[in-house]
Amino acid sequence: MIFTVAIDGPAAAGKGTISRAVAARFGLAHLDTGALYRAVAVKGGDPVTAAQTLTAEDLARDDLRSLEAGQAASRVAVIPEVRAALLDFQRRFARREGGAVLDGRDIGTVICPEAEVKLFVTASPEVRAHRRWLELGGDQAKVLAAVKERDARDAGRADAPMCAAADALLLDTSDLTIAEATEQALAAVAKALAG
Ligand code: CDP
Repeated sequence: MIFTVAIDGPAAAGKGTISRAVAARFGLAHLDTGALYRAVAVKGGDPVTAAQTLTAEDLARDDLRSLEAGQAASRVAVIPEVRAALLDFQRRFARREGGAVLDGRDIGTVICPEAEVKLFVTASPEVRAHRRWLELGGDQAKVLAAVKERDARDAGRADAPMCAAADALLLDTSDLTIAEATEQALAAVAKALAG
């Protein structure tokens, strides 16, 4: 079975939690594509070389989830050669036998426009910043500023900007618990698998 679930959306909208739940429920492989950009940024040196030589160890580092790594990731993610170096791996993962869930910014638009299910998961900047602060701690105002800065850079870049695919299902999780948002995503995937 070739079956791709593309889950896009801005920082801390709940993509990761929803993706892991979808993958576990339907037995699909999961790729957190943000980890690729975070690993490129954290590796240091020339970002294009880092993207071309990324290893499994780079992706296993325990410092990828920090606020700083997220900000640095969005800075290397504007570089077209970095995105190009990561493209084939993501495309092959998306169409692998057995089905896959990928979460990121450009999965439904650039990596896998043929995905059988496309979700765009979002929430207000304040709600997302609060969720990220619960995860990482630190100064709440600083976390909100970082989220807004990253939203602007991710949506404003020329190459593969973050945006919802025209045929994506919009899931605004501002007023939903993560369990409710996950239920809606699971229902959309179950319907596509049945249909
Ligand atoms: O987990 P969170 O939503 O905070 O971020 P992430 O998914 O780990 O992504 C980190 C950064 O990588 C984003 O802000 C984007 O700049 C970049 N990214 C991207 O450009 N394209 C993707 N498919 C995934 C992430």
